[in-house]
Amino acid sequence: MNPVVIAPSLLSADFARLGEEADKVLAAGADWLHFDVMDNHYVPNLSFGPLVCRALRGHGVTAPIDVHLMVQPVDAIIPEFAAAGATCITFHPDASTHVDRTLQLVRDHGCKCGLAFNPAAPLDALRHPLAQLDLVLLMSVNPGFGGQRFIPYVMDKVRAARRMLDEAGSDARLQVDGGVTKDNAAAIKAAGADTFVAGSAVFGAADCRQAIAELRGAIESGRK
Ligand code: DX5
Ligand code: ZN
Repeated sequence: MNPVVIAPSLLSADFARLGEEADKVLAAGADWLHFDVMDNHYVPNLSFGPLVCRALRGHGVTAPIDVHLMVQPVDAIIPEFAAAGATCITFHPDASTHVDRTLQLVRDHGCKCGLAFNPAAPLDALRHPLAQLDLVLLMSVNPGFGGQRFIPYVMDKVRAARRMLDEAGSDARLQVDGGVTKDNAAAIKAAGADTFVAGSAVFGAADCRQAIAELRGAIESGRK
């Protein structure tokens, strides 16, 4: 099993002080930065793009930047994110006309690649390209906004995805995104996730170091 990764979502950060917010959560124990890209088309919200990713690198961020594309179409923005310093690029297969081509594009640009699944989306699109993936993202809220509640039925989906990865002998990360808190993190870990996105649970806390420590403690108690 992969070591646990906690990836605070910058969507819940103070955009007016984004560099400091990134530094703050990384100094407080975060492993990656989760970078939610929204286009007001695939999802009903607009966030930030490659220029902001590049600015974080320019600011001195060296930690992995985990780009979650909630955009349609997908392909044109991938080279831009790779050039802007993205480490991993994850997209929704239903937002790409040719999923394999998009995965290749990500890899050809030197980034790790992931597929993301909305809460009600079936995992069918995962089966064939599984061996090509570095990460599988399961949305546990409907994409578009931070601060929503975890949708309970996604827990079964985490178990199903875990089985698919194990059966295929894949060491891709299994990431859960949306409504993750210290109260449900142990159960999510026990279901088979190893990578945890947390927006409001980290940036909404008075003390983000304590919030990350509590999250990590809860995850570690959730033995698989
Ligand atoms: C939603 C985003 C999530 C979200 C997580 O579309 O993909 O990353 O911001 O935020 P919380 O942890 O507040 O649900
Ligand atoms: Zn996300």
